[in-house]
Amino acid sequence: MSEALPFTTDTSVKPEVVPFFDGATNTISYIVRDPKSDACAVVDSVMDIDYAAGRITYDSADRIVAYIKEKGWKVDWLLETHVHADHLSAAPYIQEKLGGKLGIGENIVVVQDTFGKVFNEGTEFQRDGSQFDKLFADGDAITIGTMTLHALYTPGHTPACMTYVVGDAAFVGDTLFMPDAGSARADFPGGDAHKLYHSIKRVMELPGETRLFMCHDYGPNGRDIQWETTVGDEKEHNIHVGGGKTREEFVRFRTERDATLSMPRLIIPSLQVNMRAGELPPADESGKRFLKVPVNGL
Ligand SMILES: [Fe+2]
Repeated sequence: MSEALPFTTDTSVKPEVVPFFDGATNTISYIVRDPKSDACAVVDSVMDIDYAAGRITYDSADRIVAYIKEKGWKVDWLLETHVHADHLSAAPYIQEKLGGKLGIGENIVVVQDTFGKVFNEGTEFQRDGSQFDKLFADGDAITIGTMTLHALYTPGHTPACMTYVVGDAAFVGDTLFMPDAGSARADFPGGDAHKLYHSIKRVMELPGETRLFMCHDYGPNGRDIQWETTVGDEKEHNIHVGGGKTREEFVRFRTERDATLSMPRLIIPSLQVNMRAGELPPADESGKRFLKVPVNGL
């Protein structure tokens, strides 16, 4: 067992990974399937929102649902790598259609506390993670059919970020971007560039051939959208942390860059929905649902 990792990996296990790219939010959702049993999990699904119109639709999620139904696969888990600030999760929608348990990192309670205050939520908004079926601690294991998936705690982008490792595949969320894009911002509440650097180093403790699957890609410098790389490739070529960049260099760069970034377009609806495990806020007495915009609150 590696010093930095709380579990051993078995790269002879090779899950089938099916990506789904959502062009509206540059998010990549995944189905990860056990070739031996047809059990699968869905990682980081997307619920569509036209924020200007206040309209929610499910085209992205329906593509995943249709794919799984057509294949006859069985959903064991719906996994969130973190509370996303740039898209809304469709996990409860897919759960209703296909079943499965919903999991996220245990520090969701920290995120719920922070944003429960930002959005001035009432006491009906539980800050104990009880909206989810499973809260992962570092090293926790679950099964997808015959495969074992381990949760690796990788905070820094947010305090609740998890990387999910199954066989020779790892779903890194926003802990890493493709090598030519580097890393995600670390300036959201609870974010920490030092921790992000440490988390990236943990991911790089995985075997070099491990396939890494990104949650986002924006096609830097006009290249086509990509989402899959390897630990070895990131170690060597990642523009923010690869090739032996020091923690000090990374933190300085990240801090300076983050100071120039504006808020993600969908951060306000995303947080309110995703901190509720993908559910919209409860209806008011008229039966209508609303999302709030905190003025000068973020
Ligand atoms: Fe994110």
